[in-house]
Amino acid sequence: MNEEKLKYLLKQMTLDEKITQFIQLVPQFYEGSKYKGDKTGPMTDLGINKEIVQNSGSVIGASGAKEIINIQETHLKNNRLGIPLLFMADIVHGFKTIFPVPLAIGCSWDLDLAEKSAQVAALEASVSGIHVTFAPMVDLVRDPRFGRVMESTGEDPYLNSQLAKAFVRGFQGPDLENTPYRVATCVKHFAAYGAPEGGRDYNTVDMSERQLREYYLPAYKAALDEGAQMIMTSFNTVNGIPSTGNRKLLRGILRDEWNFDGVVISDWGSVKELIPHGVATNELEAAYKAIVAGVDIEMMTAAYVKHLSWLVGMEAVDEALIDEAVLRILRLKSKLGLFENPYRGADEAVSKKIIMSKQHREISRELATKSIVLLQNKYHLLPLQKEQKIAVIGPFAKSHDILGPWSWLGSKEEAIPLYDGLLEKVGAHSLLYAEGCEIEVGTNEQQNAALKIAEEVDVIVLALGESSEMSGEAASRADIHLPQVQLDLIKKLKKANKPMIVVLFNGRPLDLHSVSCEVDAILEAWFPGTEGGAAIADLMFGDKNPSAKLSISFPYSVGQIPVYYNHFHTGRPKNAPNAEEKYVSKYLDIPNEPLFSFGFGLSYTTFLYRNAKLSDRMMTVETPITISVDLTNDGDVKGAEIVQLYIQDVVGEVVRPLKELKGFKKVMLNPGETKTVSFIITEEQLRYHHSDLQYKSDPGAFVAYIGTNSYDVQALPFQLIK
Ligand code: IFM
Repeated sequence: MNEEKLKYLLKQMTLDEKITQFIQLVPQFYEGSKYKGDKTGPMTDLGINKEIVQNSGSVIGASGAKEIINIQETHLKNNRLGIPLLFMADIVHGFKTIFPVPLAIGCSWDLDLAEKSAQVAALEASVSGIHVTFAPMVDLVRDPRFGRVMESTGEDPYLNSQLAKAFVRGFQGPDLENTPYRVATCVKHFAAYGAPEGGRDYNTVDMSERQLREYYLPAYKAALDEGAQMIMTSFNTVNGIPSTGNRKLLRGILRDEWNFDGVVISDWGSVKELIPHGVATNELEAAYKAIVAGVDIEMMTAAYVKHLSWLVGMEAVDEALIDEAVLRILRLKSKLGLFENPYRGADEAVSKKIIMSKQHREISRELATKSIVLLQNKYHLLPLQKEQKIAVIGPFAKSHDILGPWSWLGSKEEAIPLYDGLLEKVGAHSLLYAEGCEIEVGTNEQQNAALKIAEEVDVIVLALGESSEMSGEAASRADIHLPQVQLDLIKKLKKANKPMIVVLFNGRPLDLHSVSCEVDAILEAWFPGTEGGAAIADLMFGDKNPSAKLSISFPYSVGQIPVYYNHFHTGRPKNAPNAEEKYVSKYLDIPNEPLFSFGFGLSYTTFLYRNAKLSDRMMTVETPITISVDLTNDGDVKGAEIVQLYIQDVVGEVVRPLKELKGFKKVMLNPGETKTVSFIITEEQLRYHHSDLQYKSDPGAFVAYIGTNSYDVQALPFQLIK
């Protein structure tokens, strides 16, 4: 439908019909739905009547071609103007074929594969009737206590932005309008949801505007620049005002500065939550604040449908504001072709054929092998040799709970557990199994049985971690150790005096300090998705060489949080030349550095960085410079290295971070092979937000760092001349 027709349609709508376009409901409300399943927020009685449902604008959480076609068909019969429903759902890291959780994908630094995973998810979702995904989640997170860290791609604004763009490209494709097998994206959660105080979900966010703009906003902006059609508000306050009622964020930054003309949706119930936040007395005031702030769709509360009409009648809200918001929703429906074909890609027969296809599973397996991080590998214990006898122990050895908390449609039964993956490689004669303990409880008998088999083998593979309920939404933890019973199991198995490899299944960086002292190797598998066990086995037996690097720091201790690589120096930096022992910024009991830093990850080969050089020591706005390094695979197996470029602005108008990621390249090298890797450094990369929030660069001294992780780099100074 063209703009003229959409405006004509808008004219035909009554005020009530316009306002009901704003409500988003779960499928249970609709005739034609058989849905009884998941919910992703608190269910309260919305107190709405049938007429509101008949005129509603969108549905959250329905899935399955049959179900969605039924709801849409019935809806269109009852809707006076025949305005189709939009179907939205959380397709976060896969629909039925589940990919590694986004934090793991972050560790792949692989934009092409990230894009491909989103494309597969979009295909499976769209043939199942879904039009919009509530993804990508691009919240920057520096606090692993926050349960939703698993849904973020990590702690860095540049890497997060690149991945945000890749996900949007994958979900939407280049031609969303004309391709029914893609879905529109709704980037979330605007803004700074990843920075709640104490890491506690839904908690307050309070930070300087400079900090917000410098670190937290870039990934949302990147996703919108890449064409994301929608944005979701966050549950938290931003500097005293809940995002859902935050005019500065939603109109000032989003609309006026960034010119975003897509749809803004609240998170589940967050319009009404303006009341407990304490900025609205009742639903009426909440509706007023949210619409004026710029929220178009209200997810799973009914403040708009109950009060907006009165507010317009009282001239407290201009009807033009309502019209603009409705038009944005109608435009999205039109862009997705729903006026012509309200079912879009939904097709039961096609969905049966393509969902969880061999090809989709292969992509998931490839992405998992590229997302799993080798954190420790003493004495080259990994890769395993096929002739070794292995004890596979631990609550995750045979667990199917490896998909992660946001895989609501993923089928755990079809996920490959670690044991099955290993079995594929070596056969049952080489593998002994014991559970050892459950995730949070265990008995002496379980431990003793595990020790018994540990004594009979050459090597112990210990599969430990957190259940999927221990991270994700509303799943923050104050103590981010492995559960005590699992730590006890490690201690017990030490008695066998055998090499020990820990494979971790979890949704957050854990405090691994004691684990790393006690075991020989650590493989961070995260929640690796449908093909998890197979991918881990590929890596453990050296059929694939680990290449992933952390996109988030692992703290040395929970007391260090937040700990991130791009921090400030302080006025009394530790390790400064001639610094005193006492009066420096440090802990008495632990180092300042994280246990495993951003950008870190091991391989089965070693890479040499030589001849790092700059094309010039001076650059200007018009004349960029190039940094290059010769990278050699110095080992005897083929491997991929993620070469990282960081820059430090030595003296700024405001304090500048120690270093900031500005580029990365993944390079595959055969043993003995050398390639020159280079990056162009432009003035644009040197810009930052000044104290007056102007975004510009300063002339002066900079340092470029090139290397294998955020700490292990070679430094090359240069000057920007202006
Ligand atoms: O998309 C999610 C959001 O991330 C958290 N609250 C519920 C929404 C819809 O399921």
